[in-house]
Amino acid sequence: MRLLKSNPAAVHEAAEALRAGQLVAFPTETVYGLGADALNPRAVERIFRAKGRPSSHPLIVHVASLAAAKALTAEWPDSAQALATAFWPGPLTLVLRRADSVPDAVTGGQDTVGLRWPAQPTAQALLAAFAAVGSGAVAAPSANRFGGVSPTLAEHVQSSLEGRLQEGDVILDDGSCDVGIESTIVDCTVDPPRVLRPGGLPREALSAVLRLAEAEAPEPSLPAPRVSGSLASHYAPRTPLRLVAEADLPAELAHWMSQPQPPKVLCWARRLLPSHTPQLTQVLMPKTPQALAQQLYARLHAWDREGFDLLVIECPPREQAWEAVRDRLARAASADGESRTP
Ligand code: TXA
Ligand code: MG
Repeated sequence: MRLLKSNPAAVHEAAEALRAGQLVAFPTETVYGLGADALNPRAVERIFRAKGRPSSHPLIVHVASLAAAKALTAEWPDSAQALATAFWPGPLTLVLRRADSVPDAVTGGQDTVGLRWPAQPTAQALLAAFAAVGSGAVAAPSANRFGGVSPTLAEHVQSSLEGRLQEGDVILDDGSCDVGIESTIVDCTVDPPRVLRPGGLPREALSAVLRLAEAEAPEPSLPAPRVSGSLASHYAPRTPLRLVAEADLPAELAHWMSQPQPPKVLCWARRLLPSHTPQLTQVLMPKTPQALAQQLYARLHAWDREGFDLLVIECPPREQAWEAVRDRLARAASADGESRTP
């Protein structure tokens, strides 16, 4: 594996690696992706092996232009045109009927494909360079081991995929990701289009451009640990995480601190609570959803390394603007099941 600081020579080397069927981890404005030539099924297979991800999970295909995206679809509805024109390049993935050229390995055998034109400069340079020497289509999930926290720094990729990348593979390092959580995914094969995953592009921005299918009822403000298959263990740090309503924080912390041998607790909340114990570390949570998204994964990665016994995190507000960060925190908290109820 070669870890390269992003510059034109490194980008060229990475594009050549893609052409040769190797893996390239690269930054996008959302999170780092683990890329392979989307039209090379053997290269795509390697992504699943490196991540330890079930091969039935479809991958997002990244391209560097509207024309390149259209070429991978069998149908380009007006909704796709409207959203792509308004928000590409950007933190938005569109699900569309796939062209025959898109292999089953990418779509998990479905007849649809997720497409994204990212805005991050290194991502754009890589996709353009790969279009010059190869297919220009890069299949890439987040560059973390399956179930783990997504990477927003090259060092997160390196530690998460330690020992799983080969000699010819590349990690392109271009610092931290501006948006910090994954793209918003919109299914454009249905009318009106439906948000499949809230993410870096707020629902309000989409709604300003076209009518969307109704959002499902907002989840309760305090997501009880859930055991749904698709939620369990997704986006989870290794350290146990409890998502707690703001009003319940004092009692929650008092409970842990009154144990005979209190655990080492990290509390991330929007205000500091009176604390008289070295077992409790408090960090202020950002006051906007954008700032929280940008810090979220880097914080979880760092706290995993710092040896806390428990992360207590304040549940963000219920308003729609906080939907995506609430979703990611709920998934991170759901992995620990009921066993950690105080
Ligand atoms: O921001 C992002 O979206 C990042 C960067 C690297 O682009 N990628 C990312 O990929 O988050 P991943 O694999 O971690 O998540 C992709 C999601 C999965 O939930 C997958 O089920 C969904 O996209 N997806 C991909 N293709 C799909 C399709 N054809 N239909 C429905 N969902 C699809
Ligand atoms: Mg992922």
